Amino acid sequence: MYRTHTCGELNASHIGREVTLAGWVQTIRKVSNSLSFVDLRDRYGITQLLIGEGLAAQLSNESLGREYVVQATGKVIERTNKNPQLATGDIEIEVSRYTILNKAATPPFTIQDDTDGGDDLRMKFRYLDLRRQAVRKNLELRYAVNRSARNYLHENHFMDIETPFLIKSTPEGARDFVVPSRMNGGQFYALPQSPQTFKQLLMVSGYDRYYQIVKCFRDEDLRADRQPEFTQIDCEMSFVEQEDILQMFEGLVKRIFKDVKGIDYAEKVERMTWNDAMLQYGNDKPDIRFGMKLANLKTIFEGQSGDAQARVLFEAGGFKVFNDAETVLAISVPGCSDYTRKQTDELTEWVKRPQIGMNGLVFIKCNTDGSYKSSVDKFFSEEQLKQLAVACGAQTGDLILLLAGREERTRKAASELRLYMGERLGLRKKDDFKLLWVLDFPLFEYAEEENRWVARHHPFTSPKPDQIATMIGNDPVIKDAANYLSHPYANIKANAYDMVLNGNEIGGGSIRIFQRELQEKMFAALGMSPEEALHKFGFLLGAFEYGAPPHGGIAFGFDRLCSILGGSESIRDFIAFPKNNSGRDVMLDAPSAIDEKQLEELSIKLRS
Ligand code: AMO
Repeated sequence: MYRTHTCGELNASHIGREVTLAGWVQTIRKVSNSLSFVDLRDRYGITQLLIGEGLAAQLSNESLGREYVVQATGKVIERTNKNPQLATGDIEIEVSRYTILNKAATPPFTIQDDTDGGDDLRMKFRYLDLRRQAVRKNLELRYAVNRSARNYLHENHFMDIETPFLIKSTPEGARDFVVPSRMNGGQFYALPQSPQTFKQLLMVSGYDRYYQIVKCFRDEDLRADRQPEFTQIDCEMSFVEQEDILQMFEGLVKRIFKDVKGIDYAEKVERMTWNDAMLQYGNDKPDIRFGMKLANLKTIFEGQSGDAQARVLFEAGGFKVFNDAETVLAISVPGCSDYTRKQTDELTEWVKRPQIGMNGLVFIKCNTDGSYKSSVDKFFSEEQLKQLAVACGAQTGDLILLLAGREERTRKAASELRLYMGERLGLRKKDDFKLLWVLDFPLFEYAEEENRWVARHHPFTSPKPDQIATMIGNDPVIKDAANYLSHPYANIKANAYDMVLNGNEIGGGSIRIFQRELQEKMFAALGMSPEEALHKFGFLLGAFEYGAPPHGGIAFGFDRLCSILGGSESIRDFIAFPKNNSGRDVMLDAPSAIDEKQLEELSIKLRS
């Protein structure tokens, strides 16, 4: 063995012992010609080496450099100058001999917690970046989540079964990555967007509890929480209803909280319908660590709550922006009624940014002295402002932010503004974890360009049992595109659920269709001809004829879960070798061209 101990484990109890360490040179401090200190680093920590007079000659002949790989033997001694920040800070090694195992070129950035290497450089030299403690901690957390999940699933009789990567398309809403086949010229495999159909086939085969921590591949636009290849904790169960799945998998996440973060998540996991999430938070993955729910003034004033007096007031204000808008959404921000002009101007600029795309922002201050002040004072009397504030559910001291405009854009903007204000007020604490199940998703989504229905989750998701008749009994064709919302399909709810953690979708799943007939109807509803359905999914339809059990499942975004538990926005920090935002591996320089011979073997001719 090259070493007796690691660089992270020696302490005062080892004083007097002769040890050998091996690791990388982090820093060298030359105190005098006969005394140098070297910090030796490995995966476990850092230990200080003292290189004294006896080795001065060797050191001047064979000087050490940063990131040299060194083996050092010596006695553990007590440090005169202790470092309480370091686990090994009470001791140092009085080195009696050392060997340079390998030299190192000067690294392009310093291996320390904060590097100024920049993202591109760090990714190009990812093997050096991975030496940094901060990155190592992320990978350790990832491994801890992996172990915890496996333990829980194993204890609950789930079996890890691998499924193939070279397959036929599995629709999950993204484009496929395809792989050409040499042996079948002109034909292509697709890489799985998820093991969806395989896990369902495993249910047909009787493996009633399956899981896999598995790579999935999706050719989609990338964001901080998306990678073209990412990992799922993919699970499926037979003979279950939605409630069984929710119980089993909130158990999984609670177990991960406990094992990885030491958190006892004792409270009940909240549940919300998709409809409520959209109305109250403006999106389907609400961050419920804080309130500030949206109030829709149009519905309040236009009679849904029947407040005729308030409606008159709203219209009487004569404020065209409100009156002409499809929707007016209000957010009451607590404790901000004293915002200065500069601060409200800042918020107005924020909502006008192209990413948010609003024309402006109206605000009402519910002052602590009981008065009301607004940016549209000339349209509303103070009494009217008070009534508006009451309708929004605002409290004294709140700053009400109002956005008016087209339905969809205003909803998205209000949702973003709410999150932004939550962030500004420090209400989105990284170590405060709030889980939420979002339930009752719509089964279908309208695809405008094609004027047809697409599956909101995937085509194997079942409708709520009481809505099967609506699905079967109505023609999926959308005759009046402008009024697609009035088509009966628009209101069919799915047996589908998402798990949301701190405003991020960390998992999603559904109870599946398990009868051939209903699955065929679903394919037809999505605009597939019977021949096309058979061509694409004949294997599944066939399997459903041989005794398919009722089943359902879920998949968690493993990278996402890790990044949230680790307090980071970006999943890349939790993946050993991630791709950049253009889907490139800058270290390997992939994707790249292949040579003519390979193309020929694959029967591929490139379009110029
Ligand atoms: P879904 O498509 O919702 O469901 O994916 C499950 C979870 O995977 C994560 N995720 C991603 N993470 C990183 N990069 C991506 N590009 C990416 N895409 C998705 C999300 C998401 O919640 N087969 C179904 C599951 C099922 O029905 O059982 C599926 O894949 O956290």
